[in-house]
Amino acid sequence: MKSQVLFLFLLSLFYGAISQPILYSIPEELAKGSRVGNLAKDLGLSVQELPARKLRVSAEDYFNVSVKSGDLLVNSRIDREKICGRKSECALEFETVTENPMNIFHVIVVIQDINDNAPRFIAKNIELEICESALPGVKFPLDSAQDADVGSNSLKVYTINANQHFSLSTKESPDGSKYPELLLEKPLDREHQSSHHLILTAIDGGDPPLSSTAQIWIKVTDANDNAPVFSQDIYRVTLQENMPPGTSVLRVTATDQDEDVNAQITYAFLNAPTSTSLLFNLDPNTGDITTNGTLDFEERSRYILGVEAKDGGVHTAHCNVHIEIVDENDNAPEVTFMSFSNYVPEDSDLGTIIALIKVTDKDFGQNGLVMCYIQEEVPFKLEFTSKNYYKLVIEKALNREEISEYNITLTATDKGKPPLSSKTRVTLHITDVNDNAPIFQQTSYTVHVAENNLPGASIAQVRAFDPDSGPNGQVSYSIVASDLEPRALLSYVSVSPQSGVVFAQRAFDHEQLRAFELTLQARDQGSPALSANVIPHILFLALFPQTSTSLSLGLRTGEVRTARALGDKDAARHRLLVAVRDGGQPPLSATATLHLVFADSLQEVLPDLREDPVSSDPQAELQFYLVVALALISVLFLLAVILAIALRLRHSSSPTSWSCFQHGLSSKSGPMVPSNYSERTLPYSYNLCVASHSAKTEFNFLNVAPEVDHPQDLLCDDPSMVACSNNEDPKLVYDSSFPSHVSVFNPI
Ligand SMILES: *[C@@H]1O[C@H](CO)[C@@H](O)[C@H](O)[C@H]1NC(C)=O
Ligand SMILES: *[C@@H]1O[C@H](CO)[C@@H](O)[C@H](O)[C@H]1NC(C)=O
Ligand SMILES: *[C@@H]1O[C@H](CO)[C@@H](O)[C@H](O)[C@H]1NC(C)=O
Repeated sequence: MKSQVLFLFLLSLFYGAISQPILYSIPEELAKGSRVGNLAKDLGLSVQELPARKLRVSAEDYFNVSVKSGDLLVNSRIDREKICGRKSECALEFETVTENPMNIFHVIVVIQDINDNAPRFIAKNIELEICESALPGVKFPLDSAQDADVGSNSLKVYTINANQHFSLSTKESPDGSKYPELLLEKPLDREHQSSHHLILTAIDGGDPPLSSTAQIWIKVTDANDNAPVFSQDIYRVTLQENMPPGTSVLRVTATDQDEDVNAQITYAFLNAPTSTSLLFNLDPNTGDITTNGTLDFEERSRYILGVEAKDGGVHTAHCNVHIEIVDENDNAPEVTFMSFSNYVPEDSDLGTIIALIKVTDKDFGQNGLVMCYIQEEVPFKLEFTSKNYYKLVIEKALNREEISEYNITLTATDKGKPPLSSKTRVTLHITDVNDNAPIFQQTSYTVHVAENNLPGASIAQVRAFDPDSGPNGQVSYSIVASDLEPRALLSYVSVSPQSGVVFAQRAFDHEQLRAFELTLQARDQGSPALSANVIPHILFLALFPQTSTSLSLGLRTGEVRTARALGDKDAARHRLLVAVRDGGQPPLSATATLHLVFADSLQEVLPDLREDPVSSDPQAELQFYLVVALALISVLFLLAVILAIALRLRHSSSPTSWSCFQHGLSSKSGPMVPSNYSERTLPYSYNLCVASHSAKTEFNFLNVAPEVDHPQDLLCDDPSMVACSNNEDPKLVYDSSFPSHVSVFNPI
């Protein structure tokens, strides 16, 4: 074989380029044995001479020559792409040789391309990530497909399946290859469709054309193109007041259609911090709203909170949360006095408004509905005026002299459950009105005045009482009339305006004036003043007969003494009026009448004593006491006599003699018994040892108010004597330190 090639080569050198090359053109990929052309004929050889000429070709791999017909036949597969690659022109050049004579010819077989290769994508799956924010017009060049064929059989065009967002164009790169370019026609929305699947087809220009496809997987990536959205624009919730801090209010929820960080929502109060938002806590991640303090309906009943939701980017959304606070009955009603007169005159008319009262309750609804009433039984009532206002008015007549002040408790109760109430206490003073005239303690006064009184001595006292208070109850006394001659009256008596004590202005003489009447007026200081009158009768009494009076009275001790010796000429009976007056201001007084009977013996006296008419009650009383005392002392005396006789009989030898039984008698009288004193004349030896001639004999049986230097200015300097009181008249009392009470005198 080698030698043949070498031979042919040498042949060509000898014969040089022989004429024109013989040219054939065949498509590639012909079957083996296919006829390329009649080479013998083209060389000018007849079929007969062929065997002798031994026609051969040098390219035995591809072609051989039929000996019978001289045809050039395909001897093996001729793949243009294998032989020529991407060259657009492809030809096999070889020599054909003849012998006898030897000759050499040049043959060129042009290999024509057939469309035996489809375009081919290197990657069957193309993955793309396109942001949803990409704008229409954006181009995405893709890898080209390969087609081994050339010319018209090579890759011609790319297409994609019909879709809404993309179009495809076929572009040619500088090296002449064609590549597909994806064009975004319509914006993408990840939230609507997060991926797209396209089929890319590459088509060559053959007839029929061949094509192949690749898958385009487009993933739409998120752009933060969505704002968060709250589930509600306005959230409404009601919440009981006084809930503890931390109580859950509600949860706000916002969603964001974006993903990942673009959808990460944080919540916050709008315009925080404000006083409102300080009362609430908002969890920034969950949107939970809780209380951060105690909510007070009375402070605020409604809150509106603005809440903002923000995603990972710049988008926000707002919503409002309306929180209604529900009232609880946590406030007691309050009572306010809008005006109040604490002092109300007792003569105020019924219906007079004393106070205007406002009742408030901070609570709401039933919790704030208040009823008001007075607890006590008082002559006042509450009248409902208008919303929340009451007036306190007088319902019944007032009388300060009965009740001078009222404590009024106002109770206000609301209608909550449970109800709350409050109490307000006020004191109402009833002020005095001069509606009471003075009233004299006694309707009539009869005053006995012993004659020869000291000028300026108080002789009587009147008293009037006025239940009104202050000046309305201040009584002053005056003499308004009398049956005396007016000018004489002034020189006779006067009355102390303050005390009502009536003073004698001069010494009276029973013989000249026996009695007179005064009209005394008690008058209060009210305006207008009220007054009352009383008419005391003043009687003057003769103490003793003017000429024969022999007694004198110890002013301070109450001792009655005989002033001189009593004789037969003196009257046997004397009536003494003893007056006693205390030192109070005004002085009070009492009188007692003393009947004295002078007799030789008691027998003479007893009928008189019995018959002696009881002129007045005090005298009767005095007599009663005297009789009781006499009886008592008689018993004592009898016992003493029996004792004495017994003693005498026992000691008859003893020459003891006693003249006068005296016991506890004043030592001034002593045991000395005057000789002219006759024991016999006195049946009872308790008779006082009275020396009838003695000017100093004492009848010390009374103890009365002390005598003072100035009668108008009496003082109680010895409290044992008289109770020192302005209110009580002094009483005549019998002094027990004196032994016996006898009113029997033994006249000389
Ligand atoms: C040419 O090739 C065919 C097929 O391979 C073969 O049958 C034939 O004998 C060959 N002819 C020559 C002259 O070699
Ligand atoms: C909660 O209340 C406390 C005390 O009043 C205050 O200091 C705090 O700021 C409040 N918190 C919020 C989130 O408002
Ligand atoms: C009214 O209340 C005052 C003070 O509590 C009390 O001193 C007074 O006695 C009361 N008056 C009456 C009439 O209850």
